[in-house]
Amino acid sequence: MNTQAIIAPSMLASDFANLQAEVEMLNQSEADWLHIDIMDGVFVPNLSMGLPVCEAISKHSKKMLDVHLMIVQPERYVEAFYKAGAGLISIHYEACTHLHRCIHQIKELGCKVGVALNPHTPVELLEETLQYIDLVCLMSVNPGFGGQKFIENTYRKVIKLKSLANENNPNLLIEIDGGVNLSNAPKLLEAGANVLVAGNFVFSSPNPKQTISHLKRLTID
Ligand code: DX5
Ligand code: ZN
Repeated sequence: MNTQAIIAPSMLASDFANLQAEVEMLNQSEADWLHIDIMDGVFVPNLSMGLPVCEAISKHSKKMLDVHLMIVQPERYVEAFYKAGAGLISIHYEACTHLHRCIHQIKELGCKVGVALNPHTPVELLEETLQYIDLVCLMSVNPGFGGQKFIENTYRKVIKLKSLANENNPNLLIEIDGGVNLSNAPKLLEAGANVLVAGNFVFSSPNPKQTISHLKRLTID
């Protein structure tokens, strides 16, 4: 049976001066989730938005908020982001000394949980973790900025992660974040990905709703 990927436009590329209109446009689109990038200027060399903006988006959004925490010691903020409307919270493997503890902290809130990996981090490091989590977010650019070039090595990582997931957690969602477009998406889905984040590709296109439909129309065998 052919299924479709979950499409999660990244709000980082949206027009921050017209956030409500952007969220309403996405409500009318075939987007499944809204991807919210949170940066602290420490884990990544940039700042983005924080709790009040997440809460404001949540007030208008009919879609689940997929919150990507690019912050050190995420355990300090997971509860606050859950209260600000997150339906899924991803924390970075590289930013979290006690990953197991933080994963369970998120689960106990009643929130879905993901772990994000930087491009250099091998997927094998998640072997003891996959059974507890809903999603792995594979960074296909170095986190911190939208609009960067997709790193080709990601395909290999997806294939390896898919095989690890088959053994440890067959329901695992594999999300790709960074430089996703209609040229690399089919190959990513073929390799085993099932969630696509897209920032610039969606928001810089002449018709974002249509671009989302095009991504949504791709199927997974
Ligand atoms: C990068 C962020 C991504 C980014 C994706 O640090 O985690 O979510 O917004 O944007 P594009 O699709 O433009 O690479
Ligand atoms: Zn992201």
